[in-house]
Amino acid sequence: MTDDHELRVSKIQNGTVIDHVAGGQALNVLAILGIDGTRGETVSVGMNVPSDRLGRKDIVKVEGRELSQSEVDVLSLIAPAASINIVRDYEVVEKNRVVRPDVVSGIISCPNRNCISNADEPIHARFTVLSDGVRCDYCDTIVREDEVAANLNVN
Ligand code: CTP
Ligand code: ZN
Repeated sequence: MTDDHELRVSKIQNGTVIDHVAGGQALNVLAILGIDGTRGETVSVGMNVPSDRLGRKDIVKVEGRELSQSEVDVLSLIAPAASINIVRDYEVVEKNRVVRPDVVSGIISCPNRNCISNADEPIHARFTVLSDGVRCDYCDTIVREDEVAANLNVN
């Protein structure tokens, strides 16, 4: 439900709205998407806006971009209640709740310097998803949920 009084960040024309993000996680969402503003992307962020479902929520709107499955997988770790709305020509054409996958790969790197996934080998980091974090499939190092943002691949 959105009426004119509640609309805090303007609608987007084409792109993705990541809604129902846990309050305080918006900057981590941007980090996962590799957005730091230097590439000229149009991005709107609402933080701690009132929400019926969550009390307070964050919301991130990215113009001109749809997310990859591995990005959505990693988002699910820090924003388990998020919905991903794809917007085309101002209309929401697709709305999906994030789903916690069994494994994630491609976005997080292993914090263990000696892990084979960090060596010069054709092996890419892969993690098994736990209830409160992820575990490296190669060396069993655990990355807790609140450490995910600090262990992202630079992209
Ligand atoms: N939105 C947007 N730009 C658009 C269309 C929608 O920024 N052109 C945003 C809305 O502001 C809302 C989210 O995308 O935050 C989802 O839109 P919609 O499904 O219309 O809103 P709700 O019904 O409130 O969504 P939900 O049921 O998921 O709470
Ligand atoms: Zn490892």
